[in-house]
Amino acid sequence: MIRIHDKHFVPFLSASQIDSAVAKLAQEIADDVDEEVPIFIGVLNGSFMFVSDLMKHYHKPCELSFIKLSSYQGTTSTGTINELIGLGVEVKNRTVIVIEDIVDTGNTLVVLKKLFEDKEVKALKIATLFFKPEAYIKDIPIDYIGMEIPNKFIVGYGLDYDEQGRNLAEVYQLATENTYNPINSNTMINIVLFGKPGAGKGTQAEFLKDQYNLVHISTGDVFRYNLKNNTELGQQAKAFMDRGDLVPDALTISMLQAEVEKNAGATGFLFDGFPRTIAQAEALDKFLDSKGWGVTATIALEANDEILIQRLLERGKTSGRADDQDESKIRNRYDEYNEKTAPLIEYYTQKDLFYSVNGIGTIEEVTRRLSTIIDDFIDK
Ligand code: IMP
Ligand code: MG
Repeated sequence: MIRIHDKHFVPFLSASQIDSAVAKLAQEIADDVDEEVPIFIGVLNGSFMFVSDLMKHYHKPCELSFIKLSSYQGTTSTGTINELIGLGVEVKNRTVIVIEDIVDTGNTLVVLKKLFEDKEVKALKIATLFFKPEAYIKDIPIDYIGMEIPNKFIVGYGLDYDEQGRNLAEVYQLATENTYNPINSNTMINIVLFGKPGAGKGTQAEFLKDQYNLVHISTGDVFRYNLKNNTELGQQAKAFMDRGDLVPDALTISMLQAEVEKNAGATGFLFDGFPRTIAQAEALDKFLDSKGWGVTATIALEANDEILIQRLLERGKTSGRADDQDESKIRNRYDEYNEKTAPLIEYYTQKDLFYSVNGIGTIEEVTRRLSTIIDDFIDK
């Protein structure tokens, strides 16, 4: 076991296992290109070690260049792709083989593809050493894959965790058993919090997240983040919203997935505002399952509608949120909640994962009720 920053990693692939995958891939490409002299384009930084070894195993004439892109999430609000190191070679009428260390969601591939759109290349091929089929959400074909791997975060052989670990000659996988989990449990705790607007979900989430070392994932916040930063997923979501359509579950799931990936190594997640439908609950199960996790419990903060409506109207006076000031709109939201959430209660009850607490009382009282339930299933 090794440690990088705050996380532990366990050995996953030895140097020789990696080397045979690289050799096999080089051979495949060599067989394909015939008499062609391809231009390999390595995508920095992650691919540097892979490119180097691939070249040593590739015995035909070829050219090599690199590009470096700024993160596709973009630090600029314009969402434009920055080529930190540009192509710098003429690729017109040439066979280009892009070399990636890893393809995860495929978002980076979309950007890379776009980059070559107007370059009039003869052929554009994609080669990646690692591919995570369970995480991939695009349909761009990948021409050469060194190895398919489970949807777990890895480091080494060029790949980093927060910029460290690139120099490792082997590949390590994030340890799922978290030895420094404050609640001393070796399983993930994934809690889904239900509650009508005004029931105090946000407030309680703040407490729970600190108390149990959970990452709070609020669908609303995740949406706002992606829209504000004009991420690839944000742009896709915006297109639906601009047309007045609901954002499809698959897209919402992709955003949450990206959020979960960002927190690789967390000891658990607190989902707030999601799932809202059975389809979403099933998608969440499927996603968590692909990580070897599951929903630990769902907890509903129960409160009488009339009390909540008064609370919201009070909040509306100071928050200025238009949707908190109109009683009929609030009732509409509640009707929708009752209609959509009822089947979810059934869904989780059948799995024996549904709990509810009285959401009326002081903040501390409600926190205590929630903790009693959580402590109970942690002990199990
Ligand atoms: P994408 O989701 O396919 O766009 O991949 C985005 C980038 O995330 C990759 O180019 C890698 O830099 C990084 N990445 C994805 N999965 C891993 C991993 O398991 N370890 C380290 N970096 C990763
Ligand atoms: Mg990369």
